[in-house]
Formats: sequence, C-alpha cells, structure tokens
Amino acid sequence: MKIASWSRATPAEAAPLAALFQRTEAVAPVGMEQHAEDVRNRLTTLGPDSAGRTRVGRDHTGTVVAYGEVADMGTVDDVLRIRLANVCHADVADDVRAELHHWLIAQAKQLRDDRGSAQAVLGTRCAENDRAGHELLIRDDFALVRHQRDLVLAVPDAPPAPVLPPGLVLAPVDERYDELARLAHNEAYSDSPAAVRPDRRTWPQHATGHPRFLPDLSCLLLAQADGSDNPVAAFLFALADGSTDTPTAMLHCLGTRAPWRRSGLATAMISRVLHRARSADIGQLRLEVTDSNHPALALYRKLGFVESGRGFAVLMRQLTPEADEQP
Ligand SMILES: CC(C)(COP(=O)(O)OP(=O)(O)OC[C@H]1O[C@@H](n2cnc3c(N)ncnc32)[C@H](O)[C@@H]1OP(=O)(O)O)[C@@H](O)C(=O)NCCC(=O)NCCS
Repeated sequence: MKIASWSRATPAEAAPLAALFQRTEAVAPVGMEQHAEDVRNRLTTLGPDSAGRTRVGRDHTGTVVAYGEVADMGTVDDVLRIRLANVCHADVADDVRAELHHWLIAQAKQLRDDRGSAQAVLGTRCAENDRAGHELLIRDDFALVRHQRDLVLAVPDAPPAPVLPPGLVLAPVDERYDELARLAHNEAYSDSPAAVRPDRRTWPQHATGHPRFLPDLSCLLLAQADGSDNPVAAFLFALADGSTDTPTAMLHCLGTRAPWRRSGLATAMISRVLHRARSADIGQLRLEVTDSNHPALALYRKLGFVESGRGFAVLMRQLTPEADEQP
C-alpha cells in the first residue's frame, strides 16, 4: 500500500488516528492510544510548536494508514530527549515506512537545532514481533535499550487492607497538593532515564487533567510531621483503560520518594486501588514497567501481577551533529 497524501496531525484527526492505532495495536502493540480523546490529549501534550513535526498518511480512499511524530521529551543533563513514533498499517509498503522513518530523523535534527542542543538522543518503540521494524531501526544505528512489560492483575473478591507505617495518611488527590505531587513524581522518577518528568505546563495532561483520570482510584500518601517542604511521600495516579474488554484501571504512575521506600507504601496504595476497583466493578489493574526496573518488578510480582503479552521493545540512538554528515 502506498500513501496518496501526507498532512500534519490536528486534533480533528484524533478519531481516524485512534482507528489506525486500534488496528495496529491488535497485531503489533507499542502502547498507542485506542480512543479519540486520548489521541487528542497526546497531540495536545506535544506542545503548540509540534504540529509540523507530525505526519498523517492517507491511502487513495482517504483512510488514515500511517502516522509519524517527533516529540520533545525535555532536556536532562544537557541532552535533549526526542521520542519518535512511526505507526503504519500492516499493508503499508516497507519502503513507505522507511521513508517516514527518514522524515522523522530529519525532523528530529531540526528540533535539536531549534532547541540549540548540541546533544540529543532519540528513542522509539517497536513491537516485539515486528521484525521489519527492528531491522529498519538497527540499520539506522538504533540499539535495543529495554523491553517494556505490560502487566495485569485481576481484582480479587477480598483485597487485603492497606497497612501504613505510623505518621502517614492516605489522602485523595487534592488540587492543594497538585504542585507538590508533581515535584514528588519527578523526584521519585529522577533515577529512571526513560520516565517522563512533566513541567508545570504538561503536568495537568499527565495527571489530574488527563481525560481518563480516575480520581477515586488515585491517591497520595502524606507524611503528617514531615520536616521537608514536601509532605507527599508517595503518589498513585490511575486512568480508565479502554483498551481491553474487561473494565480496567491503568496504574499510570506510581512512586515512593526515596526516604520512604521499602516501608510498604506502594503496597498500601495498590491495596487501596484494589478496594476502590472492587466497589467500582473494575475487574482488572494494568500497568507498564521497564524490565530493568527491578524494584518495581519485584513489587508487582509480589502482588500477583502477570504479563499480558502486550509488551514492546524500546530502541535508542544518539543524534550528534557529526552523525548528520553521514550518508
Ligand atoms: C517501585 C517503587 C514504587 C516501590 O515503592 P515502595 O513503597 O518502596 O514499595 P513497597 O515498600 O510497598 O515494597 C513492597 C515489595 O516490593 C519489593 N520491592 C520494593 N522495592 C524493592 C527493591 N528496591 N528491591 C527489591 N524488591 C523491592 C519487595 O518485595 C517489597 O517487599 P519487602 O520490602 O517486604 O521485601 C519505588 O521504588 C519507586 O518509587 N521507584 C521509582 C518510580 C518507579 O519506578 N515507579 C514504578 C513505575 S512502573
């Protein structure tokens, strides 16, 4: 299949893009959004200057069959992190997909130069079963950096009661703590190179302003007599997950700040989610975790989470100006 026309992605394309992602996720999952409102949210979080770095391909009938995206994921230690997405319907010809890939690389270079960054690193997802996609990336100097696991847990009839150490209270997500929760989130994820660390602008879409945010299943753990500026010791933000037939809550982000780790806080928050899920007739919890995140994997295995089979690989490549000279 060839592409008849290319255009920029706009929020008006959210529904046809969601339809494309539903088809591609069924055969080669990389965690793309399945619903129009989530795609709209994705396009919004790319930022106002990013529309030109997206590309929507239509076939001769006008059906959306390809999507390319270059996203600025922020600068850490002077290195600009750029996420690429190359999602094509299974019938799209390999050379079209390769052409889209090279367009994405050119856009990433442009983004690096626009941001005035000397160094940039590119990251992209590839389905575990997508051999052609892997080969395309490896030929272009991408290297496999990790596997992303997709885990699920059936909500039991009688979940265990949350148990907390003294001095900590479970609290609903409250707008008074919004900025403190963002700071706690970014601190907890500071050792995770792949994690998104939202700024004030993108935090709402990441958390409480996400269209699928589940306030009743989300929570904070507050330290009552905390000497530091931030009483938020741990946080859990849950989203409704519409990607399966079983009513499912997605544990979108969950973390405990370093001084409070190994005290049962994450376990207590997940116990609370299980109780809330039970009352809300939600049958399953789901989450994504990097296979190098041993503490999190140990936590989830202990709680009984199992692989869903929807994991994917993450590949990365440096984007130095010297590399621009190479053919
Ligand atoms: C993963 C994380 C949330 C765990 O939080 P926590 O509050 O320390 O977890 P708990 O105290 O409830 O741990 C429960 C069990 O998980 C396992 N576990 C947790 N941390 C572990 C570690 N560092 N090493 C090995 N096992 C670990 C243990 O089995 C532990 O039980 P135990 O202490 O009785 O042995 C925390 O380390 C964190 O915030 N990491 C950074 C953010 C992150 O990666 N979030 C998850 C994204 S998917």
